[in-house]
Amino acid sequence: MNALNIVHSAISRHVSENSVAIDATAGRGYDTKFLCELLKSGSVTAFDIQQEALDSTAELLEKNHLNATLIHDSHANMDAYFPPESADVIMFNLGYLPHGDHKIFTRFDSTKEAIDKGLKILKRGGIMSICVYYGGDSGYEEKDALLPYLKTLDCDLYQVIEVTFANWTNDPPFPVFIIKNQYEKPHVKRY
Ligand SMILES: C[S@@+](CC[C@H](N)C(=O)[O-])C[C@H]1O[C@@H](n2cnc3c(N)ncnc32)[C@H](O)[C@@H]1O
Repeated sequence: MNALNIVHSAISRHVSENSVAIDATAGRGYDTKFLCELLKSGSVTAFDIQQEALDSTAELLEKNHLNATLIHDSHANMDAYFPPESADVIMFNLGYLPHGDHKIFTRFDSTKEAIDKGLKILKRGGIMSICVYYGGDSGYEEKDALLPYLKTLDCDLYQVIEVTFANWTNDPPFPVFIIKNQYEKPHVKRY
């Protein structure tokens, strides 16, 4: 088990074949490919700020006869492409492009803006996953700002689930899930 396996398995259980999915960080396209394979009759849109990432993603999809809409823009602008409550799943995979420029990586300010906008775009009952990579060249700044911010999300609207690898060392990436509640005031016991 690692962060990516956990994310893929949770998302597979949560969506149906015709769901609408957003990959907020296309990178080398592995998550975009995963979403395309999962959502046979749905739609997949992937964002990245680097043309190199989108070219890699396009190549991977083409090789596998899959289709997605690839957008060369920051995920912080995703509200320009999606209306409120229109997506079932939004995936973020933080950090830098594997085998790319390690100086270009996700930053808290734009990640937070994208999460805020993404939560509005998410349908009720939808799921957002955030695979948090930190340490190494991308440092700790984004993770250290992100975790306290996630704790501020309104629990009447969202469930935030942080998964930790309690006995792993060396900064293992970990997944966070945000589920948008079906109803604004869920009839669940609050602890
Ligand atoms: C860890 S990689 C993503 C890995 C990818 N999901 C995969 O399967 O290969 C992170 C990506 O986020 C991109 N990125 C950084 N800031 C971004 C932003 N503001 N908007 C969109 N993408 C961004 C980087 O260019 C990089 O390609």
